[in-house]
Amino acid sequence: MNSPARSLIGQTIMDAGPISFETFMEIALYSEVGYYRNEDVFGITGDYYTSPHIHPIFASFCALQIEKMWKTMGQPVPFFIIEQGAGDATLAKDILEAITILNQDLYSSLTYLCVDRRQIEIGDNSHIETVLSDQLEPFHRTGVFISNELIDSFPVKIIEIKDGEIFEMYVGINSQGDFEEILRPITIDDYVDFLPSNIEQLNGYRGPLNTKMNDWYKNMSDALNYGFVITIDYGFDRQVFFSMKKSHRLLQTYYKHIDGSNPFQRIGSQDITAHVDFDTLKKSGHKYGFTECGYFSQAEWLNSMGLDHLLRKMRADGLENRKTINLISGLNDISGLGGFKVLIQSKNVRHVDVRELNSDVFWPQGLKFPQVKNVHMANDRQPETWETNFF
Ligand SMILES: C[S@@+](CC[C@H](N)C(=O)[O-])C[C@H]1O[C@@H](n2cnc3c(N)ncnc32)[C@H](O)[C@@H]1O
Repeated sequence: MNSPARSLIGQTIMDAGPISFETFMEIALYSEVGYYRNEDVFGITGDYYTSPHIHPIFASFCALQIEKMWKTMGQPVPFFIIEQGAGDATLAKDILEAITILNQDLYSSLTYLCVDRRQIEIGDNSHIETVLSDQLEPFHRTGVFISNELIDSFPVKIIEIKDGEIFEMYVGINSQGDFEEILRPITIDDYVDFLPSNIEQLNGYRGPLNTKMNDWYKNMSDALNYGFVITIDYGFDRQVFFSMKKSHRLLQTYYKHIDGSNPFQRIGSQDITAHVDFDTLKKSGHKYGFTECGYFSQAEWLNSMGLDHLLRKMRADGLENRKTINLISGLNDISGLGGFKVLIQSKNVRHVDVRELNSDVFWPQGLKFPQVKNVHMANDRQPETWETNFF
């Protein structure tokens, strides 16, 4: 089907010749006719869910973590939460609601900045400022930077190994007018920060290369002068990422809760995402002054703040319905969202180990969590069973 995004990519190739897969993905997702200009992208009526859409308990644990970080930093005022790739701002709204419940002093010190490449509608919320941009403003703020499933949405290059040689995939047009893959030889030096030194030995390997990470951290180091960075996303450590087991399996597409792997289908109507190589992410952060203070699965991270304990209590008390408990359990199910990674880094904060930081972090007994709303899967009006892709 000849969608506007497909036509724009076709025209770009006609004008300038084959484009890298990274440029293809940039146009398919973020051009004026790209996927992220569509209205219904997130949640039940959209293409995919993320953790914040399950239940506001996810945002509540993020708020708990942020409150603990604020205290560790000496309760600075003003304090910024900067969320890049905030999507429909579900996480932002729920984190703020959780902070009003948890800590009024933090709430009154706070500005929440939502930055996204797509327009964010937040309604009437005086604590949230929105910025329509793919960059952070270089204001050297004090606070916490948070992102959920941002890095996987950065346009990536695709590399392939054939007979000991490395190739990068470009997209051209064949004589029938269809897109075709073109492989061009590269060397390891072209992307030395992003490729493992043994890559040539992985004969037949194909996978994404997210070379935007360095620029991202560089930008963040200008945006955040003192504070923490919480990065939540899906991916693997380098050894697993660059392995034949994961070859051809690291790029995914999402359309109406169906996942696929062909980025040339439904161009402009489906999301395209790539798993994250977390070792490269850590290395890149280190280069720009961010110190690792914790790296967990999402399950470990949430449990370190008491989610497993809370779930046991919910089951024992029998006050929550089965559907809600099942949905919340998905957040720390290691084969689903619980298998996501959480990387916590700091900048200019005295060395902190997040495991220690979280040793006494629990949602205070008796306090309510933020309200379940229409956007959440746990909303009672949602169907009892729902075919779902969690990422
Ligand atoms: C997979 S969605 C995740 C949305 C949200 N964080 C969630 O968990 O539901 C990725 C979001 O990141 C945004 N995005 C991608 N690159 C960005 C950039 N460089 N700066 C700001 N937003 C970006 C996209 O527009 C999209 O809204």
